[in-house]
Amino acid sequence: MKNILVTGGAGFIGSNFIHYMLGAYPDIRIVNVDVLTYAGNPENLIAVQDDPRYVFLHADIGDTAKMKAAFADYDIDTVIHFAAESHVDRSITDPDIFARTNVMGTLNLLNCAKAAWQIGDDQYREGVRYVQVSTDEVYGSLGAEGFFTETTPLSPHSPYSASKASADLFVKAYADTYKLPVCITRCSNNYGPYQFPEKLIPLILRNTLMHKELPVYGDGLQVRDWLYVEDHCRAIDLVARQGRLGEVYNVGGHNERTNIQIVKTIIDYVREKADPTVGEHLIRHVTDRKGHDRRYGIDPTKIHEELGWLPTTTFEVGIRKTLQWYLDNPEWVEHVTSGAYLAYYDKMYGNR
Ligand code: NAD
Ligand code: TYD
Repeated sequence: MKNILVTGGAGFIGSNFIHYMLGAYPDIRIVNVDVLTYAGNPENLIAVQDDPRYVFLHADIGDTAKMKAAFADYDIDTVIHFAAESHVDRSITDPDIFARTNVMGTLNLLNCAKAAWQIGDDQYREGVRYVQVSTDEVYGSLGAEGFFTETTPLSPHSPYSASKASADLFVKAYADTYKLPVCITRCSNNYGPYQFPEKLIPLILRNTLMHKELPVYGDGLQVRDWLYVEDHCRAIDLVARQGRLGEVYNVGGHNERTNIQIVKTIIDYVREKADPTVGEHLIRHVTDRKGHDRRYGIDPTKIHEELGWLPTTTFEVGIRKTLQWYLDNPEWVEHVTSGAYLAYYDKMYGNR
């Protein structure tokens, strides 16, 4: 694993992954392909932009010519595919782009990897690998009991999760049909630095700091299983190096919280660190998300037993680190929430 094509590296998890990898390995090159949608932000990568081991390519994963050139020009041996439309609410109002990027973009990447790496019928260059970064949302929703395992049937509900499940099935098909060396990871909800404030944690934090209403969908008792982003990055790295080909690995740290608990945790932190006047009076229960999944919960036994992965950051530590990062980086928040974000916010929450 030397020349790594990271897609979507200017987004939340991708940028954390690039920081992690360049910190951990002196002898790699990372080629980051990102088209810089509203969610892609070059500011996330300022710390590495002059690193000779880092290359940025401004391109769409659906652009076959550019992707083929990337494989050839940089002798790519590993793909870590993050690039996606990633927000469930946006997928409900505009599903088409989710099919274009998440399904067709993935298919294009698979074709380019296959073309670049194939040396004979069902045969590929030594040591090459494609990792699909997927989500637990492909499994659908849980009741009060049980967890998602790798054999849980796919049952996506939102256009986002449907597009991710479709992409996963194409990846599986390329492994089954053409023997392309692939792995798939399915992680639970991530939190950490550089997350775009359309997602629950940074959105609620920003609103709290601004004394704006805190929109909680429905009763707020939906459950998400939160993992610190760097733990996810370590899991992807392990799967890329040691995962068994053709396998799926679920990633999660048994950190289930209701949304309302998360919101209250954020209020408490802001009250302690920044503004004693904020409080739960800011919470506003708003119209629920359509088709809202009630609970996600990951069983991470397989990645633990096969690859020795365990999360290292507890929720209590990780959430404080994360919230403090946003408090320490107000310009970052300011930059990503000017312009188009305000129109988005108004459209999504104005009449909710
Ligand atoms: P994000 O929305 O923060 O970033 C997505 C990145 O992809 C952006 O930089 C964007 O510019 C880029 N991108 C979008 N369309 C592109 C295209 N056509 N060509 C090139 N680049 C494009 O997303 P994220 O939260 O960092 O998620 C990354 C991946 O991890 C996604 O595939 C997502 O499904 C998956 N995932 C996310 C979570 C989570 O909690 N955020 C959990 C599990 C899995
Ligand atoms: P989100 O961060 O969008 O992630 P996902 O939908 O992929 O799990 O949302 C996390 C949970 O928080 C989800 O149950 C929806 C809920 N939520 C709110 O209640 N209010 C909000 O403003 C947002 C963005 C999310």
